[in-house]
Amino acid sequence: MEMRFVSTGSYLPEQVVDNEFLSQIVDTSDEWISSRTGIRQRRVTIGEGTACMAAKAAAKAIARADIDPMDIDIIIVATMSPDNCLPNTACEVQAEVGAMNAVCFDLSAACSGFVYALNTAYSFIKAGIYKTALVIGSEVLSKMLDWNDRSTCVLFGDGAGAMIVQASETGIFESVLGSDGTRKDALTCASRYIRNPLVSKENTPSGEDTLDYVKMEGQEVFKFVVKTIPLTIQQVIEKAGCTQEDIRYYVLHQANQRILESVAKKLKEPIEKFPMNLDKYGNTSAASIPILLDKMNKKNMLNRGDKIILSGFGGGLTWGTTLIEW
Ligand code: UT7
Repeated sequence: MEMRFVSTGSYLPEQVVDNEFLSQIVDTSDEWISSRTGIRQRRVTIGEGTACMAAKAAAKAIARADIDPMDIDIIIVATMSPDNCLPNTACEVQAEVGAMNAVCFDLSAACSGFVYALNTAYSFIKAGIYKTALVIGSEVLSKMLDWNDRSTCVLFGDGAGAMIVQASETGIFESVLGSDGTRKDALTCASRYIRNPLVSKENTPSGEDTLDYVKMEGQEVFKFVVKTIPLTIQQVIEKAGCTQEDIRYYVLHQANQRILESVAKKLKEPIEKFPMNLDKYGNTSAASIPILLDKMNKKNMLNRGDKIILSGFGGGLTWGTTLIEW
């Protein structure tokens, strides 16, 4: 059994935060941010959480697929910024969209999360276990940022993207996924500390100190991405028995325009094959690929039979490149 791509949906919070605004709160400038990253604006939520945005994106994908939510067998939400430890985001989406026959869980793989989630859905479908999957990437990164740290707060944004996929007789889906935990310190954000009656209070941060924020060794991540991602793209194209000429688009995680340009150069591909929207939305981690696919879909850029590379990379370190046939 193979998998087909039925529909997409996305949701971005209304509040736009531009580089000018950020230059008033930290020592930065529109010139620095746009020339080093390509980012000009991002959306920041002032109320809607990860599950709420995920459900809104999902509702659009379900409406466009014209399916009964009761036919959805599985919901996977890729996120590193859930609203709660419990319940998981996918269960909240399930209740909101009325997909009461679905099995629901979240998946955490930072900016590779959506590609990993899509591969998980594919594995269930390929094995004949499920027929219809709702796969979502949703992030509220604004709550994980130190808004006094100019090296991170200018990079990220909030948003959600969703996709309905279904079992199909035909289709192409080839992947190269990988992780390197030895480089776990390159991108971090601690969650809760170990705290119980057996742990001495002196060793346990309290109050504000328990809050931790995203920290990134930007150059290390940059170098890892531009070295690893072109190789995985070449590997996946070879696995699928295709050539680069067969690829219509390279839909990469929207972290930095210079990363995309560098990957394009290494592959000797025109930059036009690398759609971007990071100028408007910044880096939305697991949500960036499904948001971009939805925007492309709405502009009728995706045609049946198009071969598209999806590639996510980030904390862990993790990476995942998949060749799909739309
Ligand atoms: O989504 C997960 C995957 N993440 C990525 O793929 C991100 C990969 N990394 C990057 O995109 C880039 O490394 C960054 C955009 C994060 C940083 O760009 P960079 O060209 O690597 O800059 P840098 O960190 O080397 O910093 C250069 C200078 C430093 O000043 P000095 O030491 O040269 O005086 C920084 O302090 O720029 C300074 N700087 C800033 N200046 C103005 C850092 N952030 C800012 C800022 N505004 N916002």
